[in-house]
Amino acid sequence: MTPKLLPAFSITCFAVLGWFAVARAVSFEVKGGNSTCIKAQLSANFSITYSVTNGTDSTTLPLPSTAVLGNGSTCGGVGVSPQMQVVFGDGHSLALVFSRNGLLYRVANLSLSFNLSDSVTFPLSSSKDVMTVVTNASGISAQLNTTYRCQSSTTVRLGDVNITLYDVQMEAYMSSDVFSSKESVCSADQPTTTTVAPTESPRTTISPSPTPPGIPAAGNYSVMGTNGTVCLLARLGLQLNLTYFSKSQNMTIQGTVNLDPNKTLASGSCESTAATLLLTEGLTNLSFTFTLNSTSNKYHLSAMNLSAAWPDFTVPIVSVGNSTLNYLQGTLGRSYRCTSEQVLFVTNDFSLNTFKVWVQPFGVKNDQFGSAEECTMDSESVLIPIIVGAALAGLVVIVLVAYLIGRKRSHAGYQTI
Ligand SMILES: *[C@@H]1O[C@H](CO)[C@@H](O)[C@H](O)[C@H]1NC(C)=O
Ligand SMILES: *[C@@H]1O[C@H](CO)[C@@H](O)[C@H](O)[C@H]1NC(C)=O
Ligand SMILES: *[C@@H]1O[C@H](CO)[C@@H](O)[C@H](O)[C@H]1NC(C)=O
Ligand SMILES: *[C@@H]1O[C@H](CO)[C@@H](O)[C@H](O)[C@H]1NC(C)=O
Ligand SMILES: *[C@@H]1O[C@H](CO)[C@@H](O)[C@H](O)[C@H]1NC(C)=O
Ligand SMILES: *[C@@H]1O[C@H](CO)[C@@H](O)[C@H](O)[C@H]1NC(C)=O
Ligand SMILES: *[C@@H]1O[C@H](CO)[C@@H](O)[C@H](O)[C@H]1NC(C)=O
Ligand SMILES: *[C@@H]1O[C@H](CO)[C@@H](O)[C@H](O)[C@H]1NC(C)=O
Ligand SMILES: *[C@@H]1O[C@H](CO)[C@@H](O)[C@H](O)[C@H]1NC(C)=O
Ligand SMILES: *[C@@H]1O[C@H](CO)[C@@H](O)[C@H](O)[C@H]1NC(C)=O
Ligand SMILES: *[C@@H]1O[C@H](CO)[C@@H](O)[C@H](O)[C@H]1NC(C)=O
Repeated sequence: MTPKLLPAFSITCFAVLGWFAVARAVSFEVKGGNSTCIKAQLSANFSITYSVTNGTDSTTLPLPSTAVLGNGSTCGGVGVSPQMQVVFGDGHSLALVFSRNGLLYRVANLSLSFNLSDSVTFPLSSSKDVMTVVTNASGISAQLNTTYRCQSSTTVRLGDVNITLYDVQMEAYMSSDVFSSKESVCSADQPTTTTVAPTESPRTTISPSPTPPGIPAAGNYSVMGTNGTVCLLARLGLQLNLTYFSKSQNMTIQGTVNLDPNKTLASGSCESTAATLLLTEGLTNLSFTFTLNSTSNKYHLSAMNLSAAWPDFTVPIVSVGNSTLNYLQGTLGRSYRCTSEQVLFVTNDFSLNTFKVWVQPFGVKNDQFGSAEECTMDSESVLIPIIVGAALAGLVVIVLVAYLIGRKRSHAGYQTI
């Protein structure tokens, strides 16, 4: 072999070795006691742009097969989310924090820490710090008791860092030590046909219709407390307004969908200062959390979450929510009522249109609504006729007075003749 060929040969060798290092998915298992809570098999590449003395440089490092679980891994518990932390190389780590609601689990936080002191990976780096990037938009979610699977590579861009995951098989909140046989397959793996797959099982899921739906019918929903009595009552019509990328229309649309009370199931829970109503229609889950301030005895709608798996999505599941809301304010023992239509803004992508709301999340007696507190919009709409009425009455009086004065004057006129 001539010296000239040697570099080429070693590059080929390196590339082949590199290919093996990259292509091999690495497996991890997080256990709490004897049971497995998170299992993952994944491949990843991290491409990082970093500062050097005279500019910037970039590097790509794969998740090596020598990566192991770090101390940050936990099955979680009260107030602690399950987390898988994977450490590799000279102080680098990838962490996935999971969260769930009634139907789904997802990677709530995806973060990467990298050690710029590692001069092999980051030659000539001007910083020697350990940097961390984090996102809550990992796009990884799956139905509970199913395995999340994504062969395709998906890249999360976080400023100067790109995290690419591929060949992923993963499950959290596991109910056994082995992967569930049912899978939630990521949208990138699904065939990109725009026609409705004939194999799709007939499910009672809702999807936006091209024409706007009419006013939604009001449903009666209630939640039973632990002592067997009704603790939350709600009677309302609901219309979802969700902005999402539509598979059928190949563009971002505002899908408006009415909840059909006849197909909606209510569940939930009541505690002393928090009450939750969960409405489920097919693969649409909408939850309302009410909070009671026990000092002021006032309650309000404090959080709302929507998770949906409509067939028109390009992703398996859309989850949106907001836990700093302040809607539907009422007083303990009384109900809140609003016949006017209300728009409850939740996030930029999701708002809820409510019709004929009547709710009582706390202090329900004998399965019945307490005395109602009307919303300000309704009292305004009551006020407007009163104001208009008063103004009209005033006008009538003025006209009458003017008429009487006029009559008197004309009388006086006749008398002078
Ligand atoms: C784990 O399993 C062993 C044997 O099966 C048992 O003795 C032990 O109590 C278990 N530990 C926990 C935390 O469940
Ligand atoms: C920065 O300096 C290194 C070595 O000193 C050199 O190889 C590289 O080309 C320089 N980059 C720029 C953008 O000037
Ligand atoms: C970062 O890398 C340096 C040099 O390789 C090493 O001495 C240091 O312990 C690493 N830091 C961490 C937090 O692992
Ligand atoms: C995700 O990260 C953000 C910012 O680091 C943090 O505020 C939030 O509590 C994290 N969420 C979870 C579920 O750990
Ligand atoms: C998941 O499986 C566990 C154990 O089989 C069961 O208790 C739980 O209700 C299931 N959850 C869902 C959402 O299916
Ligand atoms: C049931 O529990 C609620 C609080 O959750 C309480 O207000 C109510 O009085 C209880 N009813 C009975 C019959 O114990
Ligand atoms: C849905 O929300 C968008 C803003 O996000 C708004 O422009 C649109 O009018 C809303 N549609 C309905 C039917 O409320
Ligand atoms: C969707 O729209 C994009 C650009 O608007 C276009 O490139 C693409 O071919 C379209 N896809 C389908 C399936 O129509
Ligand atoms: C719900 O069911 C009732 C009785 O079965 C029916 O009268 C009503 O039209 C249904 N509502 C909707 C929205 O389908
Ligand atoms: C509860 O209400 C009191 C009195 O209005 C107020 O001072 C306090 O901040 C409220 N507490 C919470 C947690 O909002
Ligand atoms: C949550 O709701 C509050 C109050 O309406 C709003 O200020 C905030 O921007 C919302 N958060 C998100 C993430 O949309």
